[in-house]
Amino acid sequence: MIGQAANRVDGVRKVTGAAKYSYEREDFGRAAIGFMLGAGIAKGRIARIGTSAAERAPGVLLVLTHRNVARQAPRNGSSPEGFGRAWPVLEGERIGFFGQPVALVVAETFEQARSAAGLIEVSYVAERGAFDLASHADRAYAPRTANVGLATDSRLGDLDRAMAEGPVTLDQSYTTPAHFAQPMEPQACLAHWVGDDLHIRASLQIIGAARLALARTLLIAPERVHVDAAFVGGGFGSKLRLHEEAVFAALAARELRRPVKVAPTRRQVFAIGGRRPETIQRVRLAASRDGRLIGVGHDVNMQGTERELFVEQTATIMRSLYAAPNRLTRHRVTNLDVGFGEAVRAPGEAPGLLAVESAMDQLAHELGLDPIELRVRNEPERDPEKDVPFNGRRMLECYAEGARRFGWSERSAVPGSRREDEHLIGIGMAAAIRMHFQGATQATVRVEGDGRVVVRSDMTDIGTGTSTILGQVAADALGVPYETVSVELARTGLPPSPGSGGSWGAANSSNAVHRACEAIKAQVFGASRTPGSTPPGLAAEVARRFPDGVEGAGSIVGMADDPNYKSYSQHTYGASFAEVAVSVVTGEVRLRRMLGVFACGRIINPKTARSQVIGGMVWGVSTALHEAAHVDPRHGHVVNGDLAEYVVPVHADIPAIEAILLDDFDDKANPLGIKGVGEIGVCGTGAAVANAVFNATGVRVCDFPITPDKLLGGLPDAT
Ligand code: MOS
Repeated sequence: MIGQAANRVDGVRKVTGAAKYSYEREDFGRAAIGFMLGAGIAKGRIARIGTSAAERAPGVLLVLTHRNVARQAPRNGSSPEGFGRAWPVLEGERIGFFGQPVALVVAETFEQARSAAGLIEVSYVAERGAFDLASHADRAYAPRTANVGLATDSRLGDLDRAMAEGPVTLDQSYTTPAHFAQPMEPQACLAHWVGDDLHIRASLQIIGAARLALARTLLIAPERVHVDAAFVGGGFGSKLRLHEEAVFAALAARELRRPVKVAPTRRQVFAIGGRRPETIQRVRLAASRDGRLIGVGHDVNMQGTERELFVEQTATIMRSLYAAPNRLTRHRVTNLDVGFGEAVRAPGEAPGLLAVESAMDQLAHELGLDPIELRVRNEPERDPEKDVPFNGRRMLECYAEGARRFGWSERSAVPGSRREDEHLIGIGMAAAIRMHFQGATQATVRVEGDGRVVVRSDMTDIGTGTSTILGQVAADALGVPYETVSVELARTGLPPSPGSGGSWGAANSSNAVHRACEAIKAQVFGASRTPGSTPPGLAAEVARRFPDGVEGAGSIVGMADDPNYKSYSQHTYGASFAEVAVSVVTGEVRLRRMLGVFACGRIINPKTARSQVIGGMVWGVSTALHEAAHVDPRHGHVVNGDLAEYVVPVHADIPAIEAILLDDFDDKANPLGIKGVGEIGVCGTGAAVANAVFNATGVRVCDFPITPDKLLGGLPDAT
């Protein structure tokens, strides 16, 4: 079954509406509905909050503010506990960002709750806030706490000297705006207390982290918290940590002794859903005239907030991508009065590669070298900063296969030289790289006496196909029909996992499931079996000798405990290619075709993997051409905070795109040779589009996204 394009087991339930998402669930009877009221200022304090009119409004059951909310644990915004730490709400009268919840109204219906929230009178003492990175970039500081391990400085040799002595140098700054994950299903939580036990149905990426975070926030034992995230309509990083709605639902349900549901509206997601920080990135490259890099530097300044330390790993790509003796990467943070940062779709790689791979394209242009040839000349033999071998680095094959399939040889090296009527045509490419993470994961597999197989883990399926592929892994390992396997995920009480995120889900949980199956085979076939082999007739053997069934447990250790993580540089790789047409009349960029070639280890299911990768490529296009959160420079709110005006690609923006997953097996990644595919598609794609725009027009836009206004001045006369 591994390698088969199995359909998603939950596909029919999802397209028919039978799959119930958290906000639709009625597990505990009719729930009261909570509505969060967001602050109308971005910085300052609440002078007075009047709730009596709201409390008297029809259907209202409860109004919570900082004055009457139950005690919660304090925030520790730089704790290394990460996703599992306390996340208090209504912390006091201080306001730190626009839309920060200042009250929760709970009523019989959503409409009543929202209407009553409008009756709350809040007067503020507003202070002048800082909202844009560029104006405050000189406030940048080096983050120095334990949870930013990836974002510490890296330095080898002397970059300044390489830049001074380099025959050819490039020193260019790029900017990327704030992005929001915005899954189709917003965060949502249904909470209910039974005695001292809190039961929640919520949209989450990590079950164990949510349990810990709720327990810590509410000052109760983790064992008292029971979490279930059966169906999740996308995460993209925005459901890794706890958000306000879950804490609000739990607090209100405890007060009212009845189930309470809370979800942000789409506009509220643009306030309490974390943002990918806006960045200013300086890329420095020094090269010999024949295109050998002698120095590479990547300095990132990103927006942050005083209450929450979040550092995107933006410059880490530069540490492993190209060979060069002199190297420097640094992350700096500039605190602003905006919403908190959090992981968004390939955190780090997505904005980092926009800058670095645009710079490489520009350097190739200045050297008069083909962009692929420049990359080939700088392909490192070993990880240049860790000084260990790479494993599974098939970058050169990605370039070659992509160039062949895309028809790269037809590219004109002279920008702006291909024109079809009013359109300038260009093609571009970029490299893609994404860290391969591994987290401690457990799973059990049970073969019943009647032959049914059940896989169990608290791993989540956030829409990626996890429940499908884990069934495939078990069927394959046990040699049983796929149809006999069912998969139970995403509940507390099931074997713990780090859930879905960071592209780590498939590799972690597949290997744990595989090992659980090996444990079953050892019990059933004993010494008569060659280790690793799968003799036929497992179900019959279980029926004959183990009428009550057989259970096996399997696990995989976290990367800190895996010697292969010290001995090898672990990533997934790819190369992206794009062709665009740019109208000289309007400056509009239309994508004409796109190809990605990826080396991501063994592919369990080519259908679900391809869906992941092409979804990622669409987000890559989005970072290049569409997506930006625009913040009002006076008031600090996201002006385009809805899906009408926060522009993301729609079907009409995306032509046929092709993703090739190389036949691969990474023997140092894990026993199954699997790595993740969730984010590699985003990586590099944006820069490939940007480089195609440059090839088409000769205009290099360094402030993303590349909108028509930034191109028009450099385009030829339309007549
Ligand atoms: Mo991912 S953006 O780390 O869920």
